Amino acid sequence: MFKWANFFKKDELKKEILSPNGRIHCLFELKNSALYYSVTVDEKRVVSRSRLGLLVCGEEPFTNNLKVIRTNTHGHEETIELPWGENRYIGNTYNESCFYLAESEAPNRIFTVRFRVFNDGVAFRYEIPPQPKFQRITISNEQTEFNIDLNSTVWKIPAYQPDRYEYNYEKINLHSLKGSAHTPFTLKTPNGFYLSLHEAALYDYGSMNIALNNNHVACADITPLSDGTKAHVSLPFQTPWRVIMIANSAIELTTNHIIYCLNEPPKGDFSWVKTLKFIGIWWAMYVGEWTWAPGERHGATTKHAKEYIDAAVRLGMQGVLIEGWNEGWEGDWLENGIHNKFTVAENDFDLPEVARYAAAKNIEIVGHHETVGFIDNYENQLEDAYNYYAANGVHYVKTGYAGSKMTVNGHREWHHSQIGVNHYQKTVELAAKKHICLDIHEPIKGTGIERTWPNLLTREGARGQEYEGGALSPSHACYLPYTRLLSGGMDYTNGIFDITNNVKRISTTLARQLAYFITIYSAMAMAADRPYIYEERFANVFKFIRDVPTSFAKTLPLAGEIGEYYIVAREDRESGDWYIGGVTDENERRVHITLDFLDSQVYEAEIYCDSEDAHYRDNPFGIAITKKHVGRTDALDIYMAAGGGFAIRLRQVK
Ligand code: NOJ
Ligand code: CA
Repeated sequence: MFKWANFFKKDELKKEILSPNGRIHCLFELKNSALYYSVTVDEKRVVSRSRLGLLVCGEEPFTNNLKVIRTNTHGHEETIELPWGENRYIGNTYNESCFYLAESEAPNRIFTVRFRVFNDGVAFRYEIPPQPKFQRITISNEQTEFNIDLNSTVWKIPAYQPDRYEYNYEKINLHSLKGSAHTPFTLKTPNGFYLSLHEAALYDYGSMNIALNNNHVACADITPLSDGTKAHVSLPFQTPWRVIMIANSAIELTTNHIIYCLNEPPKGDFSWVKTLKFIGIWWAMYVGEWTWAPGERHGATTKHAKEYIDAAVRLGMQGVLIEGWNEGWEGDWLENGIHNKFTVAENDFDLPEVARYAAAKNIEIVGHHETVGFIDNYENQLEDAYNYYAANGVHYVKTGYAGSKMTVNGHREWHHSQIGVNHYQKTVELAAKKHICLDIHEPIKGTGIERTWPNLLTREGARGQEYEGGALSPSHACYLPYTRLLSGGMDYTNGIFDITNNVKRISTTLARQLAYFITIYSAMAMAADRPYIYEERFANVFKFIRDVPTSFAKTLPLAGEIGEYYIVAREDRESGDWYIGGVTDENERRVHITLDFLDSQVYEAEIYCDSEDAHYRDNPFGIAITKKHVGRTDALDIYMAAGGGFAIRLRQVK
């Protein structure tokens, strides 16, 4: 007779998984039916012994009477070619160990823990295969810990807040973490490592936040549904990857690509996806010239759209975003969002006519769906709404989810809950079917799924320039590369040149607005100010935005510190030209950039930097635009004013 007891090999196990270069050691342990892992780098402790596990509603914890049935270890070495992005090629090299576990007593459940150890981090996930007694389960909690030194410094934004991910970064000690924080959760340990905790391939599950548990250990805090559980799932099921990015410096952290690598290759043919630089009927509403709602100053009229299309042609842009064209903006649009119509235009806007005009001028329309988080209303119209755009040749859509929570079936749910995650995924997959690319505002955070769904070109998903006019300090854009941008690109709505406008005073210098096109990567890059500002006042400055690409062959972060400054060089995919951008916080800075990454050709450097008397408060328009020939043995000395920055184009001289 078959006996479970004979089947099991081990009820204790210790197994070390090494990174391909041998520097990172990850130890997996099964002891007294409990699972643990720990991580050292160069024999220095980075993560102390930490619990692993999942709790299931109405069932015993998965960790009773656990035995290891089988383990499986292999190495993986691959070069991934990206359809678009900050690099053309990235390496996906790791050692993987998989632990197949089972309970030796009823209910005899089985599950798997899979680890991947890279040269720059550790990832693991739980996998629950199909099994007779369980087709559907409800996960009540995850027991994953990240037992990191409590004296580590943390840079974080709070979770469970009305403005979702749109907060200023705060620097604290890990031991004083109150409540939960979003990921990427970036830390510096007392022994000098820079880490970021995040997750990859977030599907059908609540997103992971970081909190301190009752034992005062950092742990995964999964965003709950309104019923208090974390996720209702069908088997087989696998959790997202839990990821610990590891680097020796802040700047090295920004070269981490594990999140992207942990996702599956594209599902289908995405050769139709193209990156885009665009202007939009948008900032004019923010500064009060136009309105989203219909009326005398309505922004999204056929007339304005055609004017913007003409301006896009003159400015060398490829697209025009049009917000506020559809029914739903009158009165209190936040309250009334439940009635938004995504296929019905206001009387003064004719989408087929605008689309025809745009196509004739070779300009892409970027459509817009503001859902205000009324998910039922949006999902009821989803197919029609995307068909309507597709039928009019619209290949780009910006979606928005304003509001503190989503409304679904009368329940209020977090944007970052399982319901939110599944909703966003539905839009990405439907958009892919219709050959539409997305820029999602108020999104779910990035977890690298654009590897699988390259039509998800960008997200706003952090405090962006719309918060200018008081709520953004120059430090903010110096935190992003080390935190939020580890999760993917961001539409920061760059290029606001009318800095001193009365409604939204911007904490910037003019040159810094150009820097953002390099320091904050976005595959859909918006030049957000009104075209007349560019054309009438700053044509010579706008030239940089006209030139800058939206997809790069190579990215080389050059220098920086979290919240202080960031300098990065990127090589254009098409021309082989290089672009360098830098931003600083409230402190002025002089930087020395050696150009040894160039090939042996001569380049003309077009330098847009702050003048010596520039200052983000007192003299934001102080800019110096100069040109000179340089080569790989040269260096550039650049001045960044307080709250300033710079942008450089290095054009190959033929
Ligand atoms: C709020 C967003 O923050 C803003 O960018 C957008 O234009 C409006 N909602 C309308 O969708
Ligand atoms: Ca917003």
